[in-house]
Order: sequence, then C-alpha cells, then structure tokens
Amino acid sequence: MNTKKLESWYLEHHVAYPFRQTNHPYHIWVSEIMLQQTQMDTVIPYYERFIQLFPDIASLAVAHDDLLKKTVEGIGYYRRFKLMKQAAIHMMEKHDGVFPTLYEDVIKLPGIGTYTAGAIMSIAYGKPYSAVDGNVIRIISRQYLLDQDMRQEKHKRLINGINQQLIMHANPKDYTQALMDLGRTICKPKHPQCELCPVAETCQAYASSRQEQLPFLSKLNQTKSLSYIVLIIHTRTGIVLRKRTESLLEGMYEYPQFEYDSIQAVIDLLDQQGVIIDLYDEPVSFKHVFTHQTWHMHVYSCRLIGNKLLDDWQVYRIENIKKLPMAIAHRKIRG
Ligand code: ADE
Repeated sequence: MNTKKLESWYLEHHVAYPFRQTNHPYHIWVSEIMLQQTQMDTVIPYYERFIQLFPDIASLAVAHDDLLKKTVEGIGYYRRFKLMKQAAIHMMEKHDGVFPTLYEDVIKLPGIGTYTAGAIMSIAYGKPYSAVDGNVIRIISRQYLLDQDMRQEKHKRLINGINQQLIMHANPKDYTQALMDLGRTICKPKHPQCELCPVAETCQAYASSRQEQLPFLSKLNQTKSLSYIVLIIHTRTGIVLRKRTESLLEGMYEYPQFEYDSIQAVIDLLDQQGVIIDLYDEPVSFKHVFTHQTWHMHVYSCRLIGNKLLDDWQVYRIENIKKLPMAIAHRKIRG
C-alpha cells in the first residue's frame, strides 16, 4: 500500500474533529475509548461534555460515579468508563497524574488493549505503533487480498504485522488516523467507494472485484432474546427504581423488571414477599437491542398498595428521575 498517497489524502480531506485540535494523550485516550464502540457523530457531543466535566486525569480520578454515568448515559458499554476512572487513579498513584509515554506503561492501564495503546502512541506521541481495529483489518485484507477468517487471532496478528511494517515508514499520527477515516468513509464494509479511494491502485481486492467479500468473518453466535415484565410502580411520593448490580449496565437505574412471561407470575411472586400492586393500564411493549442480547419488555403501570418494597427498591420523585443515570432500554419507556 502506498502510505504517502494515503497520508496526502488524509491531510487534504480530514475533518477537524475536536480531539484533533490537540496532541494531549488524555484527550486522545478519551476519544479512542468512546470511538471504539460508538459512531463518530454520536461521540462528538459526549466527548465535548466529558472533557468539560473531567478536563484531566486528576478530575477523572475523583469523578463521582453517578456523574460519570450520567455524562455517558446513552452511549452504552458503561464498563469502559469505569475502567477509565480506575486507569486515572492508577496514573495519579504511579505516574504523578501524568499520562505515561512508554508503550509498556500505557498497555498496563486498565481498559487499554493493544488497539488503544497503539492509537495513543501513534496519534498523541507520533510513535510507530500499530493500532489494529475493524477498519484496519478491512483495509489491509482488501489491499493484500487476505481471505482468512479474521475472527481468528493468528490472522489478526498477520494484519498487525503488515500494519506495523507500514507505519514504520509513515508519519504515524497521520497514517493511523488516515486508515480510520478511510475505513469509515470510503473503504466501508458494504458498498466501498473504490472510485474515490486514494489507494485503489494498490488494492488487490479491487483489482479482482472481491472488495465486497473481504474481510472474511465467520458467523458469531446468535444474540440472546430475553423477555421481561417491567413495572412502573407509582407510590404516593414517586416511582420505584432499582440500581442494577448485574454486570450488564451495572450501577444504572431501572424500573423493577422480572424475567417472566406472565404478569400474573410476577404479581404472585411479589405477593409472597408482601408487596401488593394494583395494575391500572394495559401493558405497552418495547424492544431494546444490545450487542449480545435483545430485551423484549412488557411494561405495566401500577400503584403500590401499602408501603412494603423489595430490599433493593427505592422511591424517587418523578422530577429527580431525569437526573439519574438510567439504563437507556428503560429511559425510552417514559422518555
Ligand atoms: N475511530 C477511532 N479513532 C479514530 C480517530 N482518531 N479518527 C477517526 N476515526 C476514529
């Protein structure tokens, strides 16, 4: 691949995203963590607000968990931000609050794997460390006509080796970001726009019209489908919420929900524990799709009779609920 052509294309066409106005590793880190699992257009406002509220490592290390959750509510995968706070604490303790400059130290930070470490080293410090994500796998598989199953680690290592060779002869900062932009805007998974591609000339997949078939990714397991009865329980002072302890969406608030198919089974279960509810509406159904599971939620509004609640339930005033970090699957139930 002609890295010079790729870099010239990047220099001419790149968008000046807010995290491209700085070389600060903290800012690059925040953007890379957000961009790993979330689209660019969604990330930008979250990135700006995050930097406003937590402008540096020291402020992130002492962030209140509820504020942190609230700041990233809606972009999902909360665990990545919890790990960022742990990494910030680690940097306060081990690196005097300064982002480390050595790869060996960066890769040790919680939540930072080879991709993020490579991205920080190349983008913030201009050092030739390969950062392989889905974009890079796609571009290199197509450039070199590699049709092995890219779900397998050994094939990803092959891509990493090629990318490492390429970045050693490039401007690492521009090269890494050029690949990401190329992958997002031109060398897309479906319908790549090869006629606009700065490196189409060297693309072996394009030469043999196989660009749409690459990379080869074997099928993953199906997502799990879960059915829930969700209760919007009104009391005299507010609505009942529960703080999640499950690893998916841990620490986010939700309306009480039960993995049952029938409302009667839930009423009986609560009844046995002394919690009495009175339904007052027809149920409404919602669906929320996560990466590995889909929730089918059947939502019932009801009134609490008496004042017995389950141990992990708490009543919140309606106007305060907006301020709590809430599982987005449930936020969309009442807006
Ligand atoms: N995707 C992940 N990191 C990126 C970056 N720095 N620029 C553009 N797209 C990206």
